[in-house]
Amino acid sequence: MIGLSLLSQKGGVGKTTVALNLSFAFAKRGLRTLVVDADPQGAIGLSLRGKTTRDARGLSAFALEGATLDDVLVSTREPNLSLLPAGRVGGKEVDILYSQLSSDDVLPRLLGEAASHFDLALVDAPAGLVGPSIAAARATGNVLIPVQAEPLSLRTMPALLERVGSLREQGHDIRIAGVLLTMTSFRQDTALAVLEEAWALYRELVLETHVPRDNLFAKASAEGVPIGLLTRRAPPVAAVFDRVAAELEERLGILQGEDQGESLALVD
Ligand SMILES: Nc1ncnc2c1ncn2[C@@H]1O[C@H](COP(=O)(O)OP(=O)(O)O)[C@@H](O)[C@H]1O
Ligand SMILES: [Mg+2]
Repeated sequence: MIGLSLLSQKGGVGKTTVALNLSFAFAKRGLRTLVVDADPQGAIGLSLRGKTTRDARGLSAFALEGATLDDVLVSTREPNLSLLPAGRVGGKEVDILYSQLSSDDVLPRLLGEAASHFDLALVDAPAGLVGPSIAAARATGNVLIPVQAEPLSLRTMPALLERVGSLREQGHDIRIAGVLLTMTSFRQDTALAVLEEAWALYRELVLETHVPRDNLFAKASAEGVPIGLLTRRAPPVAAVFDRVAAELEERLGILQGEDQGESLALVD
């Protein structure tokens, strides 16, 4: 199983949106995918409608009550996609869960249990370069860095790269799977300038696909669904995540061992 976590210093850059929609895309492409909401404030849980998600015991029961992964997994409409919501976390438990998730105990144990059921585990953590997000980076070994097309988000990149570098020096094997530009726009000068700068400074890291700013994301989030399920036929912007998934499959080496090189004849 491959692990991948979302990492950003700044909040509001699109991490949770990416985690939800990208995991849906991976599942659609046939990978047995687990998306873990490692944000004690329950970001993915809040983004989805459905009683099962709301009432789930989730990661909090796994971390604090000795539940097994099987006890707390939530299956979804998409057969290859399972969800682990943060769970019900009362005021008192937030701090305890936060420190549990920051330890090197819970997430590695969780991923260990997930390895026999899944091809890929995607972990969404809160913003910041401390606590659960760093523990998630260490546990998964691969990070995807969303950078919002606005100057502040880009300016946090050097600190983030330095942090990843220092974790590597401490012996943690962490690979940057890519930088994903989010909320992009070609009509707005400041957004465009950020894209150009990101491409110039971090060419090797930046994925070719970027996620445009689109009001449908607000709509999908209001409806509590991934964007691919907003309408019966997925809207065009949903296809972006299919491309991100395809790029990451290559970068993460997910398809190694499969007969990648062989083309398939269209007719016999
Ligand atoms: N590509 C996008 N276009 C428009 N709005 C977006 C896009 N991506 C995210 N958003 C909105 O931006 C806000 C922050 O996104 P979110 O995914 O919660 O970020 P984070 O998890 O990094 O805090 C949300 O209201 C979300 O609906
Ligand atoms: Mg979030």
